Amino acid sequence: MKGPLTCHRSGPLTGAITVPGDKSVSHRSLLFGALAEGETRVTGLLDAEDVHSTRKAVERLGASVRTEGAEVIVTPAAVLTEPDDVIDCGNSGTSLRLLAGVLAGLPGLSVLTGDASLRKRPVRRVIDPLRRMGADLTARDGDRVPPLVIRGKRLTAAHHDMAVASAQVKSAILLAGLRADGVTSVTEPERSRDHTERMLRGMGVPVKVDGLTVSVEPSRPRGTRVDVPGDISSAAFFLCAAAALPGSKVTVRNMGTNPTRTGLLDVLRAMGAGVSLANEREIAGEPRADVTVSAAALEATEIRGEIIPRLIDELPVIMVMATQAKGTTVIRDARELRVKESDRLAAMGETLAAAGAKLELFEDGCAITGPVKLKGVTVQTRLDHRIAMSMAVAQLFSGQPVVLDDVACVATSFPSFFSLLDSLCWGDR
Ligand code: S3P
Repeated sequence: MKGPLTCHRSGPLTGAITVPGDKSVSHRSLLFGALAEGETRVTGLLDAEDVHSTRKAVERLGASVRTEGAEVIVTPAAVLTEPDDVIDCGNSGTSLRLLAGVLAGLPGLSVLTGDASLRKRPVRRVIDPLRRMGADLTARDGDRVPPLVIRGKRLTAAHHDMAVASAQVKSAILLAGLRADGVTSVTEPERSRDHTERMLRGMGVPVKVDGLTVSVEPSRPRGTRVDVPGDISSAAFFLCAAAALPGSKVTVRNMGTNPTRTGLLDVLRAMGAGVSLANEREIAGEPRADVTVSAAALEATEIRGEIIPRLIDELPVIMVMATQAKGTTVIRDARELRVKESDRLAAMGETLAAAGAKLELFEDGCAITGPVKLKGVTVQTRLDHRIAMSMAVAQLFSGQPVVLDDVACVATSFPSFFSLLDSLCWGDR
């Protein structure tokens, strides 16, 4: 779907769905599969543009990726080769930052770039630590933003203390560490998502976790089997809508419940929504469950501190849900929202305010007072899938049409979003 879209649905939302595979796990299964010795077989891989960017990148490095029935099979090259052209990561920050860690230690010259959104996103956070390992990286505008030029070098192991909790930066360092000359370690201020640690360990790499410090020894991963759980960051749109729309009850089957990702479930419980987990299990190192959320009269809550990295991508739709809760919901320590696919604090703050929300913006968060009946609004989606989908949810609370100026961005993570939303609006079928 491209161009503008007018949304005019109404709730309640009822039914049981599965959502597409987790984006973070999908990127990693292709990239780590390309670095491995032997094939990696992946089921449940997310079929969306961001993951296509990683797929094209690993193919440029000499790996092959093919689909056989329900499986995507990654066959690594004997040795990864210098890419023959610029690697275009599209909208995907995860592709660009994780690839930087791989390419830093790979002989040859690589150039990583992306779309207008990605070319505004900070890369010094990967350049600085990788340089400390002897890598040669430069980027536009005083090393601030892509394109990123990398000349592969022999890497030296190092310890890194990270200023922000970022799984992309942590992963770039650990991937560089696979080719360094000793133990590479990284300490985060708070724990970010740990898919890299889990998957590399499942591929036989000696990864140690000690509190907030992760270390890795140089080694080559072994090919493996990955089963990608449903993405909580995609499920969030339906779970937040269901929590706040009277009469709703939505089940998301086989949703990833990795504890470094489930801050949203804690927030839903704190606000009073009904949350239950069934069929809890772990497959290929990643926990998952069938998660049911039912509507309640929501109460405001406070979201700050260590929970932030556990729900960072869900905050735009949590802001929408907060407009429907009684009292003032406060979000702090979320400055990272300003450097996502768009400045999400500004984008959601301005757009929700235009839709009638009572909202105060801070440098690192916001305060939202509800409940408020929202009104129709025209949304600039700013090449940011989560702004588009969050405002499609906001429309459910307005009773009026909401116009999204361009919904092409939704295809970066969740091409089936609107049809799944329709299936829930039409009830149990
Ligand atoms: C991701 C890490 C997070 C998250 C992004 C995916 C990952 O970014 O927002 O959508 O897969 O590692 P940061 O590392 O910038 O926090």
